[in-house]
Parts: sequence; structure tokens; C-alpha cells
Amino acid sequence: MEIKFQDQRPEKIKTGLLAVPVREKRLDDPALRRLDRLLAGGLQARLKKSQFTGAEGSALAYGTGGRISAANILLIGLGKAEEIGVDSWRKAGARARKEAAALGVEDLAFYLVPEKDAEAAAGAVAEGALLASYQFHKYRSDGKPHSEVRSLTLFRPGLSRSAALKRAVDLAAEAVPGVFAARDLVNEPPSVATARFIGEAAQRLCRGRGLSAEVWNKKKIQSMNLNGLLAVNRGSVEEPRFIVIRYRPQGKAKKRVALIGKGITFDSGGLSLKSGKGMETMKLDMAGGAAIIGAMSRLPELAPAVEVTGYIPTTDNLPSGSAQKPGDIIRYLNGKTIEVLNTDAEGRLILADGLALAAKDKPDCMINLATLTGACMVALGTEVAGLFSNDQPLADALMRAGKEAGEKLWQLPLVKEYRDEIKSSVADMKNIGGSYGGAITAALILQEFVDGIPWAHLDIAGPAFAEKEMLLSTKGGTGFGVRTLLRFLTSL
Ligand code: BES
Ligand code: MN
Ligand code: ZN
Repeated sequence: MEIKFQDQRPEKIKTGLLAVPVREKRLDDPALRRLDRLLAGGLQARLKKSQFTGAEGSALAYGTGGRISAANILLIGLGKAEEIGVDSWRKAGARARKEAAALGVEDLAFYLVPEKDAEAAAGAVAEGALLASYQFHKYRSDGKPHSEVRSLTLFRPGLSRSAALKRAVDLAAEAVPGVFAARDLVNEPPSVATARFIGEAAQRLCRGRGLSAEVWNKKKIQSMNLNGLLAVNRGSVEEPRFIVIRYRPQGKAKKRVALIGKGITFDSGGLSLKSGKGMETMKLDMAGGAAIIGAMSRLPELAPAVEVTGYIPTTDNLPSGSAQKPGDIIRYLNGKTIEVLNTDAEGRLILADGLALAAKDKPDCMINLATLTGACMVALGTEVAGLFSNDQPLADALMRAGKEAGEKLWQLPLVKEYRDEIKSSVADMKNIGGSYGGAITAALILQEFVDGIPWAHLDIAGPAFAEKEMLLSTKGGTGFGVRTLLRFLTSL
């Protein structure tokens, strides 16, 4: 989809669909009144007959009958004036894109009504429209179900094409292919998206100026003593992979960042087997790794001045005669040991390898992304990721990046008193805590492997996968984390 800018009045824009955002219960706004006059009162008459109030997510289409250059107008509700933020604009962009597709319109225009932070709003509208265009139809015999929207014109009278405007729209447009790559990897069936497949995808996606991917096979993983990954992989007929993606900026790097992603291609629970229902969506369990591959694949385009290394341990978690057993003990490369009491708490077992290896390199900070616990979903629901950190400035920076990106994060505490919960009688720790606070005890286990380096853990179990169609994504993988990571990395 091509994105264009125009300094123009709404009635002069030639388009199939003219999207006009409106604030809730502000239907007498001057821009709307002006349009209504040009439409000989037709818009107000239509509004009177409708239930439309401008509530967030609502929309109302109106055929102009050729009175202005646009064929149709779409009023889009932004919600209550005091609640409108950058995410309202993102959702409005998505809504406009969806309505245009439903109407078979190829050229969409969006009225950037005078706004305080016009650049951020423009970037969000473009991002929303782009994100809403995602489809995963390769396994459908009826092929592409929707028509294509080919262009989006952002306009308003007096719109100046500032560098800030272009930067905001570019950041959105450059990030979205990374989001789609992550969604594709998650949506692929688990018997297709094996560890080997993820490794090949990383190599295909992560190359270009300063970017490369290395994929370690089982032999190399053995020689590197990545024993958590090997333990989880024991139940599988598929070989594991450990992916290392490196990005080096052209000039001098301001910081060195390590990203670690959980890459469980299918989580059956292992011998601590999940229920049938509990397994239905467990192809999602590599969403953290997929987000890192997706985000890093865009670094050459966005060119942040930081060195970034991605570490993705990947395998499926299956039961078999050779599978690891409750009671087994894993020895890690930092010398610490974990007693495995539940083979379904496998994410922390492979992330411990990734964190311990990354820590050896002494980066300035480490961030891991993982669909780690059902407990985090109980706490925060399906749209909010849990954020844990041993470093408040890092947590604050990620919260800011998430807010700008429209990816909701909420900080949860690393309660040191709960360390008692993970004490083992035979090893340094066990891999499960008690009945409560499961997201926290999981994070406390990860913390044992960060060697005091500033670190943040994002538990994305909820938002990584949409169980129903959403405005910004289809049912399935959402690519959650890609946009937050890219905003974070470009802000350093
Ligand atoms: N991959 C799951 C967590 C998960 C559950 C993600 C549902 C998304 C949706 C993880 O490996 C897991 O099984 N965690 C267990 C931990 C428990 C055994 C301590 C859980 O949350 O039940
Ligand atoms: Mn599990
Ligand atoms: Zn899992």
C-alpha cells in the first residue's frame, strides 16, 4: 500500500472512501459542519437516523452522490475526547482500511483533522491501516478473500510534509513487515514450523546491511552446553536449533543489546502432558522468538545506532520414551542447576540457556520475550503483557516504547520473598513454584541467569495470539513485541 500526503481540503480529494475521524458526542465539530453544508445537509440527516455517536471503534458510511470529489464518506469514532491517544488513531486507520476493503475501494483517503501531535497521529493511522491488511491465506482453497487497498492519502488543509511527519510514517511502514513475518511464523502449522524451519526462516529474513543469522545444530548445541534446550528436545524426533542473529550498525554502536526469545514450536507439555484443549493453540509458543526474528529483520532499514544480538533456542516439547522426566536435573553453563518437576514449565528451561549465553557477552542490557505462563494471562488478560525487570530505567523505557507502539505492557514485581517457592531439595532451584504468582516465580527463575545485567522479561502469553479477529490483526499470531522492540531500539 502506497502512502501519500496532500495539503488539501476534504471536498477536493478524489477517492473511493474519505475517512473522517470524529470525537464522541462532538458531531457538531466545524469540519463536519462544513462537509455537511457541501453535502446539502445530507450528512446530518444520515447521522440523525443512525445510532452513531463517535464511540471508539464505531463507523458510519455515507454515499456522497457526487456532491464532492469523494464517492463515499466514512465517519470513524475516535472515542471520548479526553481518552483519545495515539492508539485511537491507529485503530481509526485500521477501521478505515477494513471498510475500504469491504466496499472494494482501492484508494483510501484519511482526513488528519487538526491535532496536537499530528506526526504521531499520522504515523499511527498509517500503521493501523497497514497492520489491518494482514491475511494468512496460504492454506485456504478460496485464496485471497478480500480486495486490495492500494493507496492511503493522508491529508488536511495546510498539511506540511515535515521531516517529523515522514519519520513517523516511515517508522510505521518499516516496522510492519517485521510484524507480518512474526505473524506468519506463528500461524504456520506446528508440523511445518519445526526448529529447522524457524532457523531457515531466520536466515532468509535476517540478512542485509550489518545483519546476519547463524543457526546451530544439535552437535554445536551440545558443544556449547546448552543443556536446557537439549533436555526439552529429548522427547522430540526433530533436532533442536539455536539461532544467533547479529546486527551491527554502520557507525559506532551507542549500546549493545541482547534479545532472547522463547522458540517452542509446539508445547504439548511433555510428559506433564497438557489437555487436548490446552494444546489447541500451542503452536503460538515460539511467538517470542518470532517477534525477535521479525524485529531484527527490519534493523537494516531502521538502522538504529546500537549493536543487537538475538538468541533464539528452539525445539518442540513432546513426550516420548526418551523425553526428560519430572525429577531430572539440568546443569547450566553458569554452573547453576534446575530440578525439573514439571516438564510443561519448559520455556524457562530453554530461556535459561539463552540468558546465560547472552550474559557471557556482557551486553548493556538483555530483554527476553516469551509466551511463558498461563498465570500471566490470569493476571493481565489477553491484551496486556507482563513486564519484569531488575532495572527501573530499562523498564520505564520499555513501557514508553510499548505505549507509543500501542502494545500494552504492565510491570509486575520480582518479589524476592517468593524465591523460597522455587527452592529445591536436590538442586539450586526447581522449575515450578507454588499455586499462586506463577508469572512471578517464572520470572524469578529467569533472573537467576542474568548475572546482574540490566534485564527485562516480557511475558507475552496473552497478547501473542488473538483467539478472535481483532481490529489490528486476524485471529492467530499478532506479532506482539515487534513494534515495541523497534521503537525501543530506535530510541536508544
Ligand atoms: N507455553 C505455556 C504458557 C502458555 C499457556 C502460553 C497458555 C500461552 C497460553 C508454558 O510453557 C506453560 O505450559 N506454562 C505452565 C507453567 C506451569 C506448569 C508452572 C502454565 O502456565 O500452566
Ligand atoms: Mn509449557
Ligand atoms: Zn510453553
